[in-house]
Amino acid sequence: MNVRYFKKKVALSAIEYISKNSVIGIGSGSTMKYFIKELSSIRSFIIGAVASSTISYNYLRELNIPIIELNDLNSCIDIYIDSADEVNFHMEMIKGGGGALTREKIISTASKKFLCIIDESKFVKTLGVSFPLPIEVIPMALKFVINEIKKIGGISKYRNHFITDNGNCIIDVYNLTINQPVSLEKYVNNIPGVVCVGIFAIRKANILLISDINGVRKII
Ligand code: 5RP
Repeated sequence: MNVRYFKKKVALSAIEYISKNSVIGIGSGSTMKYFIKELSSIRSFIIGAVASSTISYNYLRELNIPIIELNDLNSCIDIYIDSADEVNFHMEMIKGGGGALTREKIISTASKKFLCIIDESKFVKTLGVSFPLPIEVIPMALKFVINEIKKIGGISKYRNHFITDNGNCIIDVYNLTINQPVSLEKYVNNIPGVVCVGIFAIRKANILLISDINGVRKII
């Protein structure tokens, strides 16, 4: 059993959270790829899906799952499903390993519920210790943002050869122990030039599914 096995297992178990005639927000990444595949088997059952990245959008389209643009919706998304890079006991997260954090934050915030699906390796005591914090930055502000992040002890690494769906760049920040995710999220989001920080603490998950050798467990 490897990580892929646990990602698939938790993704398949998330299907039971989909109600008839609902609008689903769709995250990004390899766990979500398993979920999208499974969602295609009940595509006639849902109204449609809102994609958080070009990759997820293309995969939804390939599987003939109806797609809805956020701007065309007159109500909230019923449920947002996504994985994360790290999740703590309070269901606060680090996201953005795949670089889709900005749209993920928009869509998750526009959703009534956030169901987060992870394998056990991502469930941590403190955010930021093992996984660097991704931040989407406007390219001309890169140096300024890196310097501002340095003032709070963060060591930034530019993500090479990567442009986000919004045309920006990503820095991955090491050396942060995130003990107060909400205040750090607000602080970093307020640095001019930052488009979005990968801390999801203001919009944290409502339900967490964790897959391990004993099965899938739920935290609410
Ligand atoms: C993308 C994300 C993903 O949810 C996160 O990187 C987890 O991905 P994976 O399912 O491939 O482990 O935040 O921006």
